[in-house]
Amino acid sequence: MNKHAIVAGNWKMYKTSVEGRNFVEDFVNLMLNIDDVEVIFCPPFSALFNIDVILKDAPYKLGAQNCHWENEGAFTGEISVNMLESCGVDYVILGHSERRHVFNETDEWINKKVKSVLNGGLKPILCIGETLDQRKSNETKDVLFHQLKEGLSGVEKLDEVVIAYEPVWAIGTGETATIEQVGEAHKWVRNILSDFYSRDIADDTSILYGGSVKPENAEELFGIKDVNGFLIGGASLKIDPFKEIILTVNKKLKG
Ligand code: PGA
Repeated sequence: MNKHAIVAGNWKMYKTSVEGRNFVEDFVNLMLNIDDVEVIFCPPFSALFNIDVILKDAPYKLGAQNCHWENEGAFTGEISVNMLESCGVDYVILGHSERRHVFNETDEWINKKVKSVLNGGLKPILCIGETLDQRKSNETKDVLFHQLKEGLSGVEKLDEVVIAYEPVWAIGTGETATIEQVGEAHKWVRNILSDFYSRDIADDTSILYGGSVKPENAEELFGIKDVNGFLIGGASLKIDPFKEIILTVNKKLKG
């Protein structure tokens, strides 16, 4: 069973390079004692390079928010896995709902990206989640099944893969899914992974929750059986709430 937790901050299109650097420097200077929590900063591309330098001696990881599946080529506006790797990136968020719904990314593209990230030695954080309409028409389980099936197609090993369940209607809306909804969805995800791979592999996979996580609900959400950490947008942009959430997770892990 998963003994450690992951808390990733998805900055989206916020913070310039200087702002990002200052933020991470301030965070590192807090010298938090959080051995079992893996903290990942996911800044916009332009801030990656600067932050890599600060994180060299710190116990925190760097993540990107997207990538292309090709190594290089005539793909204006895109970035490849080896370019990210050269910036010290360890994780890449893929299939985030804003990529799926605002930029029309398909499961097929997301799958190519997952494989490219794994081939490049980095770790994908594969985001899945239903829209409000899909939830209302009881399609949540099917949506999760298909996003996992297609997103992980041809992926033989899960050890380097992180899954993030993010109900689209709870992202950036202030509306969190209920404890029951999160528990049910995470259990579905774990069981789907178990069917695709094995029970042991599913149990060892980190399944993060994302969608309006904040200091006020972190303890309750992290208390849910199949929740192994968080992917955080809004609350990761300021030191205090981000720190509070991480400390809460760490405290809960220590029992
Ligand atoms: P939020 O975003 O925490 O602001 O809801 C989560 C995400 O988009 O990953």
